[in-house]
Amino acid sequence: MTTQLETSTHAKSTESRASAGYREPVQQTSGRAHGSWLPGVTSIVFGGDYNPEQWPREVWDEDVALMKTAGVNLVSIGIFSWALLEPREGEFDFGWLDDVIDLLWRAGIGISLGTPTAAPPAWFWAKYPEARPVTRDGVALGGGSRGMASPSSPEYAVASSRIVRELAVRYGAHPALRLWHVHNEYGAPVSESYSVDSVRAFRVWLESKYTTIDALNAAWGTTFWGQHYEYWSEIDAPRRAASVVNPAQRLDFARFTNNALLACFVRERDILHELSPGIPVTTNFMATSCPAIDYWKWAKEVDIVSNDHYLTGERGDSHILLALDADMVRSLAGGKPWLLMEHSTSAVNWQPRNVAKVAGQLARNSLSHLARGADGIMFFQWRASRFGAEKFHSAMIPHAGPDSRIFRETVALGGELASLSELLGSTVTAKVAILWDWESFWAQDLEWRPSSDLGHRRQIETFYGRLWNDGITTDFAHPEADLSGYDLVLAPSLYLLSEAGSANIRAYVEAGGTFVASYFSGVVDENDTVPAGASPGRLREVLGLRIEEFRPLRSGETVELDNGLIGAVWTDEIVLEGATEVAGYRTGATAGRAAITRNRFGAGTAWYLSTEFDSVQLSTVLSEAMLDAGLAPRPNAGDGLEVVERRSVDTIFTIAINHGDREVAIETADAPPVVLAAGAVSISRRPVDALAS
Ligand code: GLA
Repeated sequence: MTTQLETSTHAKSTESRASAGYREPVQQTSGRAHGSWLPGVTSIVFGGDYNPEQWPREVWDEDVALMKTAGVNLVSIGIFSWALLEPREGEFDFGWLDDVIDLLWRAGIGISLGTPTAAPPAWFWAKYPEARPVTRDGVALGGGSRGMASPSSPEYAVASSRIVRELAVRYGAHPALRLWHVHNEYGAPVSESYSVDSVRAFRVWLESKYTTIDALNAAWGTTFWGQHYEYWSEIDAPRRAASVVNPAQRLDFARFTNNALLACFVRERDILHELSPGIPVTTNFMATSCPAIDYWKWAKEVDIVSNDHYLTGERGDSHILLALDADMVRSLAGGKPWLLMEHSTSAVNWQPRNVAKVAGQLARNSLSHLARGADGIMFFQWRASRFGAEKFHSAMIPHAGPDSRIFRETVALGGELASLSELLGSTVTAKVAILWDWESFWAQDLEWRPSSDLGHRRQIETFYGRLWNDGITTDFAHPEADLSGYDLVLAPSLYLLSEAGSANIRAYVEAGGTFVASYFSGVVDENDTVPAGASPGRLREVLGLRIEEFRPLRSGETVELDNGLIGAVWTDEIVLEGATEVAGYRTGATAGRAAITRNRFGAGTAWYLSTEFDSVQLSTVLSEAMLDAGLAPRPNAGDGLEVVERRSVDTIFTIAINHGDREVAIETADAPPVVLAAGAVSISRRPVDALAS
């Protein structure tokens, strides 16, 4: 398969491209760098993680020469370098980093400088063993690896602030500096810590949230199983216990953990803003694959959103999961440009079976991120390690060296991206949103739910996959976000719903929106408490129904509907309270009762699906809801064809990617069809005015 780019050509020579992309950083005199893209960057960012400390000095010269060949214009350095930069507590050695940065700068390559606080040195663990994170089972995690200290450790706060301050003073105004890359993937590999410091900090956090112990007792429902507290000092982290621990306590501990990690980021960010004004600060997210982090909250704190994404190599729909993740990142960025900080040129090393990418997939994956709003494409990592835990991970230069398909594809991609500067800052608009709330996921994933087959992630993937196959670009939104720009809003198993969230959904439908909720939605409030009255609690009025009893199905059991669809996992005993039955159950314990309902509410419509459908069947239901919303699948959608539009003030860019193994003709409203070969990508432009004609 080949990548066929039909772009207008602004390609410069590789030599000039590396330097042409940069101006001197714009120095900001005060305040945050928020709202800016990378200072001095005027082309699509291209590069990767660079770990020169793993290589002898002579390799650095070859690295820089090959980076120029590939059109690399930004590298992330120093992410895990704490032990080399501060070999003994309070003693620093920046010589090697000075040399690397200057070498890169002289070659016109910018840096995204890491703060190395995800890998505290051996001296730190030896001197402060109490800073080790402790698991729910009470195991204090050892060193010799990487990963966060207990986020509430005072010793970690002192040590991490010191190295960040040193780096900021030394490099904060370096002309090569484009971006600060704080820490690495907060929340992974561990997030929660049950250390003494964490328990102490949890109590302080609870006291500031609830003010009185009575308020905490009420919110946590501690009259259940005699869990009443008299003093804050009696409260523990929800460590492993004889039976199920209070779910409201666990939910609060998840919130506390997210908050404690975010405080670590903010502490570093504030030092960098103070000492390196004008340089944006980010930390690399794992948008849809880090369950512990509520990225809606984090997105408000970073200057630009950046993300790491790795294909689930074994899944045939990995390109759809990639699109899901990229759409989530764009949504977190509020539609602004974002940076793909890491992905892989080929296989990773940490999946059960690490499937290598086929020819052309490197470009297709990269351009799919670009299509969905990324203004920079970077990889982990520049040169494949020869030792350590990640030596079997692919890189831009594999062990096979530059004379390899991977490096040739890397160079080709760098060249193509260099010709796409026009896309910088152009945006993607979606008319459909899927509601996504980490707090709801945290609550739903606790023990003793009505079925162990409940799966919000599986359902989101089914809903998203359906829309992807229908050619519909989708955003993700928090239930309390402004939904007024969407024609259709989907809530796959939105278990926890706040008062504000339900009022927001209600207002959206009342004003004319189309809303689709699937089973086990609106079941509890912020404290994992069932609101008084029948389920679906706060969605009851808008959906126009109540549920007498949940009826989860047996493992593998299915039920037939009278419209021929097959449901799985779940059914409800629905009593209609204004909604119309669209389809009923023909078999099973709920036979004769409504399965799919539709309710006119205000100027809008609210649908309820009381069972789970696979992607093909969901198409039948969603196509009707789409009619309500005035939406239709894109012509010739499906067949592995991905088409996304990015718009600038005057131009619409259409990025079409053929993930299939047959050629496809892309129909356009105002031009003859374009035939796209199997595996190919095309990027076409038309003026915005053409829309009006
Ligand atoms: C993560 C990390 C990188 C590297 C890659 C490997 O994204 O941030 O340091 O370990 O995984 O896939």
